[in-house]
Amino acid sequence: MSQLTDEISRRRTFAIISHPDAGKTTLTEKLLLFGGAIHIAGAVKSNKIKKTATSDWMEIEKQRGISVATSVMGFNYGDYKINILDTPGHQDFAEDTYRTLTAVDSVIIVVDVAKGVEQQTRKLMEVCRMRNTPVIIFVNKLDREGRDPFDILDELESELKISVRPLSWPINIGAKFKGVYNIYENSLDLFTPDKQRVSERVEIDNVNDPRIEDAVGEQDAAKLREDLELIEGVYPEFSVEDYRNAMVAPVFFGSALNTFGVKELLDCFVKIAPEPQKVKAEEREVSPDEEPFSGFVFKIHANMDPNHRSCIAFVKVCSGKFERNAPYLHVRSGKQLRFAAPTAFMAQKKSIVDEAFPGDIVGIPDTGNFKIGDTLTSGEVLHYRGLPSFSPEMFKYIENTDPMKTKQLDKGVQQLMDEGVAQLFTNQFNGRKIIGTVGQLQFEVIQYRLLHEYGAQCRWEPISLYKACWIESDDAEALSAFKKRKHQFMAVDREGRDVFLADSSYVLTMAQNDFPAIRFHFSSEF
Ligand code: G4P
Repeated sequence: MSQLTDEISRRRTFAIISHPDAGKTTLTEKLLLFGGAIHIAGAVKSNKIKKTATSDWMEIEKQRGISVATSVMGFNYGDYKINILDTPGHQDFAEDTYRTLTAVDSVIIVVDVAKGVEQQTRKLMEVCRMRNTPVIIFVNKLDREGRDPFDILDELESELKISVRPLSWPINIGAKFKGVYNIYENSLDLFTPDKQRVSERVEIDNVNDPRIEDAVGEQDAAKLREDLELIEGVYPEFSVEDYRNAMVAPVFFGSALNTFGVKELLDCFVKIAPEPQKVKAEEREVSPDEEPFSGFVFKIHANMDPNHRSCIAFVKVCSGKFERNAPYLHVRSGKQLRFAAPTAFMAQKKSIVDEAFPGDIVGIPDTGNFKIGDTLTSGEVLHYRGLPSFSPEMFKYIENTDPMKTKQLDKGVQQLMDEGVAQLFTNQFNGRKIIGTVGQLQFEVIQYRLLHEYGAQCRWEPISLYKACWIESDDAEALSAFKKRKHQFMAVDREGRDVFLADSSYVLTMAQNDFPAIRFHFSSEF
């Protein structure tokens, strides 16, 4: 095997997603413990804007700082190189999460055993389904009272719309929780409530081994065998291929806080999870083992230091070997760029790297060259797709409150939009600028950052809008008739594309009915 294919086959790049509080941060931390990337529990600060009032800027800023460090967590585990991509827990940052999901090859979903599938999990799963991303589900908090595991499996199947296959099985839950039978490896792990130590393993040959009785008692052993028989009867045998094709989601049970069931999850994950996969560019499909380098920017993170505005652009390597100081084509501008100080994220430290391989994330210090979705290559003109903007849900007019600082405000707004913080639309009728976001928090973040990073002041003015949608048509006449009729509600996005601002769902439905020749799109990629 060449060095490149060798490096590709040992990489596992994934994200952990969950509804807030299901245990994503705790699980991430425990995975890092196993990888030796950290040494004590509690070392990872959560990248979430946690239980704070929505208007707590300083908290947001602090969290933003922390999240640079935990954006990507790389570590070695046995022969594998693991890259965990962190996603913000707060739903106002859902769009960041969607974009991060474009840079992973698989996903682990954490579900709370008492709460089952929650709203955010459902939404994120839709994105995984759209992209055919393989998912593994970890049912967490088995040390607490919760629901019957069979009920949970049914709910996972119906709510997440994917077939499931348990690969481990709990022996009771809550106060009576005794351990987990590992179906994948035919082993038994006994639960010892402990936040630092790994659980105790009982050596057994198979499910009929009498050592199970010795370990958990006759009654629970009988119940376990009954459950396992039912599982074998109901669920088809686990197929790695079906999992990789996103047709079935293996399910594990455990308790992240007690480090229970986590190692089993990780050991199985590295074996079955896909290595970096082919990526579709507009021009063609690109295979990771192609020699020339290519990659795309999926995230831009601004520096916290207001006196020294700089960003880190996160580049996912899609093919070939990325090398420090090599000239790369920045496809959008046509410029050749060299990167003298690219960073990698290993064991919680950021350090300069000389090379990186498909599946890796490289942080590139940026002074405004990059936009989310930009492609870098060794020379070929490629455009990686799949980083759509979604139709925002909240809208406000942005007004300049300091006429002396118009330039600063414009520059700040442009750069924040490049980072993907929100979307800017310009009303074609009156030229007013409208910012669209997915959550209230972004308006506060934008106002704060404009002031602190650009010295510009803005004020928000209400606008009552239901949705912004991109419109197009093959019929030029119909398009122009539509734009004429709706001229007060027409805007352009930053690329100059036509956007219709519907002020109610009724208006939108009427427009769709009245203008059948017009196509209405709810994401920017169509
Ligand atoms: P999130 O990132 O998905 O939002 O969840 P996080 O890991 O922060 O976990 C949310 C809460 O659930 C935390 O408690 C955490 O300690 C707890 N938790 C996680 N895994 C388990 C588990 O297996 N069993 C039990 N019983 N609890 C678990 P908290 O009180 O909100 O925060 P903290 O003060 O403990 O950090």
